[in-house]
Amino acid sequence: MIKMDKLVIHGGKSLKGSVNISGSKNAVLPIMAATLLADGQYRISNVPNLRDVQTMSKMLKSLGSSVDVDGNILSITTNECQSIEAPYDLVKTMRASIYVLGPLLTRYGYAQVSLPGGCAWGPRPVNLHINGLEKLGASVEIQKGYIVARAKHLKGSHITFDVSSVGATGNVLMAAVLAKGKTVIENAAREPEITSLADFLNQMGAQIHGIGTDRLEINGIDQLHSANTHIIPDRIEAGTYLIAGHITGGSVTLHQANASHLRSLLQKLQDSGAKIALGEDTLTIHSNRQILPVDITTAVYPGFPTDMQAQWMALMSLSSGSSVVKDEIYLDRFTHVAELRRLGADIILDHNVARIKGTRQLSGAPVMSTDLRASASLILAGLVAKGTTDISRVYHIDRGYEQIEKKLQGLGADIVREKEVLVI
Ligand code: UD1
Repeated sequence: MIKMDKLVIHGGKSLKGSVNISGSKNAVLPIMAATLLADGQYRISNVPNLRDVQTMSKMLKSLGSSVDVDGNILSITTNECQSIEAPYDLVKTMRASIYVLGPLLTRYGYAQVSLPGGCAWGPRPVNLHINGLEKLGASVEIQKGYIVARAKHLKGSHITFDVSSVGATGNVLMAAVLAKGKTVIENAAREPEITSLADFLNQMGAQIHGIGTDRLEINGIDQLHSANTHIIPDRIEAGTYLIAGHITGGSVTLHQANASHLRSLLQKLQDSGAKIALGEDTLTIHSNRQILPVDITTAVYPGFPTDMQAQWMALMSLSSGSSVVKDEIYLDRFTHVAELRRLGADIILDHNVARIKGTRQLSGAPVMSTDLRASASLILAGLVAKGTTDISRVYHIDRGYEQIEKKLQGLGADIVREKEVLVI
């Protein structure tokens, strides 16, 4: 018998009010890994209190750093590494653990990081991370489930990624800052989380040029120093609350969001009938619950983010017509489809293309979280479904959304967290 949290939602409330957007999960994780690049003290503010941040903290501690949390401030002291191994137990719960590979290898000449394996929605390879590090002169082997990388001293190189990858760009960038000579990364990811990592590395003394473009030039240097930073707002959390406003026909104002990181989503929300108003420090969505069908295809930044695909599908399930949602980044990322169908959504899936026929009303049912963004999509659907929606296995949502039920309660949603006893 095990106890797990579940979320219980009574749908039908129109959300109104304002919500503070937390710091970005995907920005803070590589920045935490980057603290391994130089000894010293780091102060990182606007850090979301999330399970993935706790996992990365554990990882840094296992590598000899000390990590203290005070509210949303993380203080990290990096010491000479005691062990240069990222164990399977930590990596298997969070793929982003692989971000320690580049920093450990470039600083210590050796790193052993568990292979992350697949995830709920299919294989997620790390070949680009490995190839990039090999280009910098590392020898990499897979031994007993671990990536074992060695290099006396990495050397700058010209790397062209076949596919634009956030993780591989981050990892290779962190390795290149301490490599000898110049590295060029072509087809680099341009996501704001990579830009913020590159800015942080420059604050640590790195020499990275072309930040924000898909061509990064790095002049390797001998040594970096510690630095402080403030984490950028979470654009995926922001996007999820905007959809919550639209799907419930409400009016939701976001504080501490960055509208310029949300352009493609804001355009699609407007196309689907929502009104968007930009204030000095706020972003507001008004909706009369007329949801027009709008197709999306996920793409690298600044295109429509794959991390918003599941939430968009929940919205389209209630649109006034037929729409198509296509995921070009992760072809298998559709575990939410079967669960949305349990709530009455009409979705036909063909490989990576979902055809959605909007329905007037979803109806509450017990559903299961299968991954982080799928969980967000079920919550959105539950907010409008008639009756009660019970969402189990919400540990997925706790990986990436800070206090989601409290924030939604603040907007008037009827949502509570309860303990569920599972007999296994
Ligand atoms: C990051 C985000 C994740 C988001 C994804 C795409 C973090 C912690 N996670 O994941 O939320 O959904 O970007 O925006 O920031 N690929 C390869 N080989 C590799 C690496 C990636 O083929 O070695 C492919 C992937 O299968 C995928 C594409 O590249 O098709 C993009 O993946 P990538 O940008 O690397 O995603 P992550 O960094 O893992």
